[in-house]
Amino acid sequence: MLIETEGLCKRFGSFYALKDINFKIAEGEIHGLVGENGAGKSTFIKILTGVYPKTDGRILISGKEVEIADPVESRRAGISVIHQDRNLVPSFSGVENIYLGMDTPKRHGVSIDFKSMRKNIESVMEAYGITLPLDKMASELSPSQKTMLEIVRSVMNNSKLLILDEPTASLTDKESAKLFSLIRKINADGTAILYVSHRLEEIFGLTERITVFKNGQLVDTVNTSAIDQGGLVRLMTDNWVSRERDRSHSSSGREVFRVEHLSTSDGIVKDVSFTAHSGEIMGLFGLGGSGRTESLEALYGLREKSGGKIIYNGSPFDKPSPAKCIKNGIVLVHEDRRGHSLVVSRSLKDNIVLSSIDGYVKHGLYDVKGERADAEEKIQQMSIQCQGMNQSVGELSGGNQQKAVFARALMTKPELFLCDEPTQAVDVKTRQEIHDLLRKCASEGSAVVYVTSDLKEMLEVADSITVISNGKTWERLENRNLTSEQVLGYCYRDR
Ligand SMILES: Nc1ncnc2c1ncn2[C@@H]1O[C@H](COP(=O)(O)OP(=O)(O)OP(=O)(O)O)[C@@H](O)[C@H]1O
Ligand SMILES: [Mg+2]
Repeated sequence: MLIETEGLCKRFGSFYALKDINFKIAEGEIHGLVGENGAGKSTFIKILTGVYPKTDGRILISGKEVEIADPVESRRAGISVIHQDRNLVPSFSGVENIYLGMDTPKRHGVSIDFKSMRKNIESVMEAYGITLPLDKMASELSPSQKTMLEIVRSVMNNSKLLILDEPTASLTDKESAKLFSLIRKINADGTAILYVSHRLEEIFGLTERITVFKNGQLVDTVNTSAIDQGGLVRLMTDNWVSRERDRSHSSSGREVFRVEHLSTSDGIVKDVSFTAHSGEIMGLFGLGGSGRTESLEALYGLREKSGGKIIYNGSPFDKPSPAKCIKNGIVLVHEDRRGHSLVVSRSLKDNIVLSSIDGYVKHGLYDVKGERADAEEKIQQMSIQCQGMNQSVGELSGGNQQKAVFARALMTKPELFLCDEPTQAVDVKTRQEIHDLLRKCASEGSAVVYVTSDLKEMLEVADSITVISNGKTWERLENRNLTSEQVLGYCYRDR
């Protein structure tokens, strides 16, 4: 066995995030790890990679017991990881990030040899067919480029095991496909893979064995060929069955939001037009780099607009800003939850009420009780797993953080939702809950603009789809028996 754990436990205060984990991964295998939000997957990975110390139990590498005191030691032991929340220094270039914590080549034994650093990286990139702008700061890279950068780093480390925690959460299907072929190549070269995802098609397409976690415990390890999706979901959840959505009742009402020929100063958004009606979920679909996120940012005032008209509830909506949007019932659920949405050092309660605190000031007094009651209600409604509303939001699991972002949006009782990848990192059950909630808001009169890079999800949730490619939109497509080929056809066409 490459890595084994025996009776591994992790406690935070009195809470057991992991209990008695006996896990095995063989040399060279591709192993999937699945479980609901908060099941303990990321915590397990953080223990293997020296981010957290274990509370109890043993870790063995190639049969020998080891102590993994910190990330550097884990890397020396041949373990590389791409964490759920990427681990790059935002202001460092690609080269600097890749060599962080590694032995850097020196010239004459003293000064750092940047030239050979670059050459080493470029030869790895060439061998694996990766292209990356190495001089750009990490903060300027797209999610997919960040993932690729971390892959290069792990290949340079000559790892025995590469761990990927939700690597495709904000990648498009095409980018994901590229990542999978890379993973297979790295695996063919002898590296074992531990792969965490909520996207079960990925797990089935990629892995040889699957381990299931539930409530901090290991339920089972199964051969992928011996189980189907339904069986796997049953192992992950108690008696939960997914169902097909009945779209027959949805009907769109009045026009809430109209965008005409929107463009941005940076040239990314060139000509975007669409209309969102009350009662409907309007999908805005495009491949990575198509300008979908940037369009939403421009509409919310996070990106400078250079042209175009926005009509909201029949009147021009000029000079959008986040404050103006919130005041007028428009809310953006941003794809980058840690960068743009959550204040990770603050409590769950503070994060939930952040956009609506004005509403709690009455006669110069702050309504602490009301605030707590509302936060509690949202925690229940979204089933956010936490140790109370005062827990800091940074301590929640990835999926539960995403639920917190959504809870805050709901608090503002929006008339228009702009959602960018709202279900990234959430488990299958929560995904359906978020869809149901948006559907309910729509049926009560709101309009929803929905961005997801998962085309299957788009076809499941949207009433109509507007395709965006190269910063320009196509005509609206009604989602009646629309196929993924039809939608993709627009993505690759030139307008
Ligand atoms: N630093 C911490 N302090 C306190 N509790 C924590 C901390 N880190 C994780 N937890 C708790 O441990 C549990 C497991 O979290 P973990 O992040 O491992 O879940 P996960 O399976 O990765 O979920 P997801 O699919 O949502 O990413 C959660 O209840 C979480 O709140
Ligand atoms: Mg996680």
